[in-house]
Amino acid sequence: MPSTSDAAARLEALRTAIRHHDFLYYVQDAPAISDADYDELYRELRELEAAHPELLTPDSPTQRVAGEPMAGLETAEHAAPMLSLDSSAREDDLRAFDQRLRKALGDDAVRYSLEPKIDGLSVELVYRDGRLERAVTRGDGARGEVITANVRTIAAVPLRLRAEARSVPAELSVRGEIFMPLEAFDDVNEELLNAGKNPFANPRNAAAGTVRQLDPQLTASRPLRIYCYDVLQGGEAFDTQAELLKALRDWGLPINPLNAEATGVDDVLGHFAELTERRDELAYEIDGLVLKLQSIPARRDLGSTSHHPRWAYALKFPPRVETSQLLRIVASVGRTGVVTPIALLRPVTIGGVTVSRANLHNIEDLQRKDIREGDTVRVERAGDVIPQVVERLETGDERGAPFAMPERCPSCGTLLRKNGPYTVCPNSFDCPAQRVARLTHFASRGGLDIEGLGERTARQLVERGMVVHLPDLFDLQAEDFADLEGFAEVSAAKLAQAIRDAREPELPRLLYALGIPEVGVAVARDLARHFGTLERLRAADVEALTQVGGVGEVMARQIHEFLAEPRNAAVLDALLDGRVRPREAAAGPDGGALEGLTFVFTGSLERLSRAAAQELVGRHGAKAAGSVSGSTSYLVAGEGGGSKLARARSLGVPVLDEEAFLALLAERGVAAEGAGG
Ligand code: IVH
Repeated sequence: MPSTSDAAARLEALRTAIRHHDFLYYVQDAPAISDADYDELYRELRELEAAHPELLTPDSPTQRVAGEPMAGLETAEHAAPMLSLDSSAREDDLRAFDQRLRKALGDDAVRYSLEPKIDGLSVELVYRDGRLERAVTRGDGARGEVITANVRTIAAVPLRLRAEARSVPAELSVRGEIFMPLEAFDDVNEELLNAGKNPFANPRNAAAGTVRQLDPQLTASRPLRIYCYDVLQGGEAFDTQAELLKALRDWGLPINPLNAEATGVDDVLGHFAELTERRDELAYEIDGLVLKLQSIPARRDLGSTSHHPRWAYALKFPPRVETSQLLRIVASVGRTGVVTPIALLRPVTIGGVTVSRANLHNIEDLQRKDIREGDTVRVERAGDVIPQVVERLETGDERGAPFAMPERCPSCGTLLRKNGPYTVCPNSFDCPAQRVARLTHFASRGGLDIEGLGERTARQLVERGMVVHLPDLFDLQAEDFADLEGFAEVSAAKLAQAIRDAREPELPRLLYALGIPEVGVAVARDLARHFGTLERLRAADVEALTQVGGVGEVMARQIHEFLAEPRNAAVLDALLDGRVRPREAAAGPDGGALEGLTFVFTGSLERLSRAAAQELVGRHGAKAAGSVSGSTSYLVAGEGGGSKLARARSLGVPVLDEEAFLALLAERGVAAEGAGG
């Protein structure tokens, strides 16, 4: 065993390294090591701490989940009132707001910081001497509930502020928005349904429900994120919102990479239009655009009402909730054979998408809410997640009888079985509906992400006998798709290409895509982290599986059973037999410290020429591209950057000034030779 002083030094080094990688991942959005290497650091730290409990500190990265479930939530007062926002969905109202500011301050003073309005819950984070001391919900604005133990488990929330780039004030109180990404929301709801519990109506409720309950272990099991946007107290006196945001980032607090700036109101509206278009692509829900006066001193001249500041405004998207009439309830068979009721609705447009089917979840839920054919219901859509019927608004004049589950599978006719709260079709391998659902899940965004292979195409492939088992997909050619409904030569070629592109998936994606019971995105990542390869995972027994953080006994058994089941094993063998080759965790710095990144340069840099910068990043494994696109990692903007800058902002590509670029290089251990100064 190492001596205490050696151990202390190693502990410090490990903690610093882990914090740094968390920072690169959550704040810089530029991870620098593979998941496996990260896990290795974490494991070593945990083992060393176990051997030296006297050296354990509460802000160690291993100490995020601490303590038993709480008895109740206390309340605490905020450092400053947490106000709300004045808002509207009307352009006229926004113009009127802009006019008020111009009248009060003069045209030159009106510049805006633009931030996506995240649909989550507002939280105050209090840091004392750089350590997270308290997290409090917004509550009534003056006082909220203390949720520190839960918020500590959110990996994106630093337990310690970074002092490298900016001095840390003795007391700092920050405001941000905690939210649940859509994929996690789907996973959580699936799990709740599997456990016979009620799902959350939307990601906001899911996030709030997760941090306002009493068990930190439960919070830890649900991936939450945070973006910060305000300083309630402490820190220097900032001149602009942009400076304030930069300070948050320097301290290691995540800020939204889509934040932007605008001058005139037309600029704001242009940005709003772009954000509206991108809304469905984002990994989390937003409900509008927040504009804030850049100048912080000028805000004082405008003041606040008791409800909202007069210097900020939210332009809201139309809500994604509608009412419609429920025409019919049908039973639908899912990937795991569970039969759920689905509502067929009078078609209604929700946020630009026509909805005619919505999820009713489970029969108990349906009976409790007494929803029947003919009723008027409230339908909600989050991102591109399947819409759901949330509640009954009015009973229909001619109501149907309460819905009853069929006796036989509507797809294959097999007698259905009761399994706890579920009704299940036991014909897993041969039931066409289950095959379609498995294939759809396999190709879905969280899975192998095969564009052009949605449910409609999956159904045709299964019905025509082209895909019986998942591996068959990889044996199909463009010609095979050409006579599917909705396909032409070009789309068929594209689908064939998308399937070829999916042949080397990252391991967590493949694990998720397989549809192993209980394995959502987060568990798939943990399994991949722990085992590294599919072969090692397949060789693991139940006990080895329970060694993975977040995998309990029951889950371990289910995973093991699934992998050992001969027909599943045959599917895996066939997949691995030249059809897919899972990539081991992403290449770390050994493959080039900047591997996987794409840089675009604009304007003139001072300390090195643009050509030298391009050559430098190329030498370390990154790409230097000529124009900004969705796959650009960073735009490096020197003096006088023009259209590329605007494009990067509209696409949400992070923009680095020269200093930040050099700092990124330094962080990755890349010496910027030739950079003077
Ligand atoms: S600023 C004084 N910025 O929207 C500043 N709020 O409808 C007031 N929200 O309670 C808030 N993203 O929970 C601000 N970038 C953002 C935001 C944001 C989401 C939420 C926040 C607020 C609610 C008002």
